[in-house]
Amino acid sequence: MSNPSILILPGDGIGPEVMTEVRKVIDWFGARRGLAFDVTEDLVGGAAYDAHGTPLSDETMERAQAADAVLLGAVGGPKYDELDFSVKPERGLLRLRKEMDLYSNLRPAQCFDALADFSSLKREVVAGLDIVIVRELTSGIYFGEPRGIVMEGNERVGINTQRYTESEIARVARSAFELARKRGNKVCSMEKANVMESGILWREVVQKVQDEEYPDVELSHMYADAGAMQLCRWPKQFDVIVTDNLFGDLLSDAAAMLTGSLGMLPSASLGAPMANGRPKALYEPVHGSAPDIAGQGKANPIACILSFAMALRYSFDKGAEADRLEAAVEKVLADGLRTADLLGPDGGGFVSTTEMGDAIIAALDAGA
Ligand code: NAD
Ligand code: IPM
Ligand code: MN
Repeated sequence: MSNPSILILPGDGIGPEVMTEVRKVIDWFGARRGLAFDVTEDLVGGAAYDAHGTPLSDETMERAQAADAVLLGAVGGPKYDELDFSVKPERGLLRLRKEMDLYSNLRPAQCFDALADFSSLKREVVAGLDIVIVRELTSGIYFGEPRGIVMEGNERVGINTQRYTESEIARVARSAFELARKRGNKVCSMEKANVMESGILWREVVQKVQDEEYPDVELSHMYADAGAMQLCRWPKQFDVIVTDNLFGDLLSDAAAMLTGSLGMLPSASLGAPMANGRPKALYEPVHGSAPDIAGQGKANPIACILSFAMALRYSFDKGAEADRLEAAVEKVLADGLRTADLLGPDGGGFVSTTEMGDAIIAALDAGA
């Protein structure tokens, strides 16, 4: 039998820098744990535009569809700001999500004890935090029609449309309930049913899925603005949050600061099961290409490395190996290693992207 396949798309800015560290981790699992993967690399985002005039070629799209898992670094950057909207780097990522039908985006926010003083919130508010935001990823205002910039009289109008079908809401709700059953058994659904019809439908459908299929899981509903406030006030009240594409984007960046840095947050974007029973999947850090620090060895590779841990868990059924990798990350943080984004109250030790990756490999070696 051939090895499971991973397609790596490093992308732009710090994407390739953090992905270099992930490659070391993948190689470590191959050499030391007998987990060999067939790894191929390809272009996405600005890098693909520079090479092919498109942020995602059809060939790369096909490779992504065929891979057991895709790992993506980040896309975008100021160099591409003036490009036509249709070929912007971000369009490459959105095409991957849409065509692979990756409707359920798991964005865990976990506060490692060693970083509890790095959050902008008080230690007692964030210490021990372990929540997951389940963001709908293939619909809503990101993809709804009509959209565009059109002339109306003598001025331009920018149009985007929030649109959700019942089945789109139900399937992401199910994935949140399934996840909750493996964790704290609690789901909070966030929308704005007070001002948006799509929010009314969202609330109704999530409630119906719970009533009929998951009566054992506790469900609450919150308006997304109040949810944002509660996330900052007392985030430990949550277990799993399920929300739409745009609210999920905003809430997950906010949740990043509960963990100390955006450089810490991994994500898994999951779709329907493939022939092998595993979900179609793309793993990527929540952060972007960080143009302000790109090329300086300052990027924190942990979000991307933890995204690979999620791949071990969700695509390769290697939960114990994922635990091993997460424990190695926890150890280097407990040892005081800090990339520049984490230089906070205790001063920490300044390490580069490469040194952080090497330290995680050393911690894996020590625990193997
Ligand atoms: P960003 O996430 O790139 O950066 C926000 C801030 O966080 C910056 O100060 C950055 O230095 C810091 N940061 C982010 N990741 C870090 C890491 N791993 N280590 C240390 N510091 C880190 O968001 P932005 O500046 O709003 O966007 C920059 C570009 O990235 C834009 O083109 C945007 O569209 C794109 N973007 C891409 C993705 C993605 O590929 N999934 C996600 C978000 C933004
Ligand atoms: C994210 C990013 C993307 C989004 C962009 C780059 C398309 O912000 O993954 O959080 O808005 O979904
Ligand atoms: Mn985002």
